Amino acid sequence: MNEGAPLLVMDGVGKTFSNGVTALDDVNLTIGEGDFLSLLGPSGCGKSTALRLIAGLSVPTRGRLDWRKEMGDDCVGFVFQEPTLLPWASVFDNVWLPLRLRGVSRAKAAPAVHELLERVHLSGFENAVPRELSGGMKMRVSIARGLVTKPRVLLMDEPFAALDEITRFKLNNDLLELWQDERFTVVFVTHSVFESVFLSNRIVVMAARPGRVHEEIAIDAPYPRDEAFRTSPGYAALCRQASDVLVLAINSTHGAAA
Ligand SMILES: Nc1ncnc2c1ncn2[C@@H]1O[C@H](COP(=O)(O)OP(=O)(O)OP(=O)(O)O)[C@@H](O)[C@H]1O
Ligand SMILES: [Mg+2]
Repeated sequence: MNEGAPLLVMDGVGKTFSNGVTALDDVNLTIGEGDFLSLLGPSGCGKSTALRLIAGLSVPTRGRLDWRKEMGDDCVGFVFQEPTLLPWASVFDNVWLPLRLRGVSRAKAAPAVHELLERVHLSGFENAVPRELSGGMKMRVSIARGLVTKPRVLLMDEPFAALDEITRFKLNNDLLELWQDERFTVVFVTHSVFESVFLSNRIVVMAARPGRVHEEIAIDAPYPRDEAFRTSPGYAALCRQASDVLVLAINSTHGAAA
């Protein structure tokens, strides 16, 4: 892997929906290989719209998205805020699904599925169905499903927003460990200053009306980041810095408050 090399260049990207709402305006952003990049901003600033454009689930109305490498269909994995699991299917079958849709048999998929379930600490739960799992466990299944195709880029839209703080901290730690071991690229949407600082090497702070990039913050603290980092003065100072930028971004929003 060529760490930091441009993987995706967003050049003057805008999105105006048919109802006339401009969700994104003139976004210029380069995502580097191996980045853990967070999009941080208030509700309605276009974070999900940006993620859907990157995923190819939607097309821009202005500008272009330029992938700098040969990227196949399976280059992107997506994890949503809701785990969106099939309720009647087992944990194994839920994680197998993206491979199954690509024609990979259960037997052939089994090693990859088992390995990922182990990585998200769900070994032994292969035959459980979603209603038997806690919210955090469901999200772990969703992450395993997002990674089972070995995507180059994992897109995560507020994946931990519905979880309690303790579960969220655990999943933050485990996600960072996976990211460090597997070296995929992450684009992570969050409302949380604390979460974005803990996880990211880059935070892109966005403003609303129209949705745009307000400022980028580099988080230069070294990895691995663990509980010692979470309680360090350096982390607190970075959170304060990011929080100050976020307040400026919110204040720069034109029109009524959300
Ligand atoms: N399909 C759509 N049609 C029309 N307007 C849309 C559509 N999707 C999003 N919008 C509008 O675009 C703007 C940005 O929405 P988006 O969902 O990207 O924001 P967000 O930053 O993800 O917000 P949140 O933090 O609440 O999830 C909002 O004003 C929203 O109402
Ligand atoms: Mg959103």
